[in-house]
Amino acid sequence: MKTLILYDSVFGNTLKVAEMIENHVRGETSLRHFGEVTQSLIDHANVLIVGSPTRGFMPTDTVRHYLKHPEITYEGKPCFVFDTRMDPDDVNSALLRFFMRKFKHAGDRMQHYLDKKGALLPLSPIGFYVTGREGPLRESTLDEVKTWTDSINDYMNDKKN
Ligand SMILES: Cc1cc2nc3c(=O)[nH]c(=O)nc-3n(C[C@H](O)[C@H](O)[C@H](O)COP(=O)(O)O)c2cc1C
Repeated sequence: MKTLILYDSVFGNTLKVAEMIENHVRGETSLRHFGEVTQSLIDHANVLIVGSPTRGFMPTDTVRHYLKHPEITYEGKPCFVFDTRMDPDDVNSALLRFFMRKFKHAGDRMQHYLDKKGALLPLSPIGFYVTGREGPLRESTLDEVKTWTDSINDYMNDKKN
């Protein structure tokens, strides 16, 4: 099975998560920045894993651009979605904490765009927390990533058998 991991990252935290996933997902993997996406890259992968930082409750502009791109199709492709985000408890402003809990995260949007494009979405999106606004990632991230990646490995195993 070939897995393509696509990410965007402003401060490097989402890239680190993407690298952790790359180290734990079984089979052949390729890690690419979202800006490098082509239809041929997508077509050559059996599974996609896509990740973005949450910025203003959304994925980055680059991620949005490529997930909504009219000439790129994700039809029938199994896609697993993750984001990085801040813990509302780390935010000083009560108003911002309210909005962060009320509005969604990058992963929810990405899942929505991919659903509209006909992708297969076997799991709900997952969020990994950074401490503060710019990171670093929480110490527990590697364990959380391994657990999530195990679910992707299980999915791929089921498909092979
Ligand atoms: C301008 C800006 C907007 C942000 N908006 C949100 C947000 O809406 N929700 C959230 O949980 N975190 C938000 N964050 C925190 C980012 O999610 C965090 O910087 C990101 O996960 C770090 O990933 P990266 O290092 O890959 O860029 C914001 C950070 C910045 C700088």
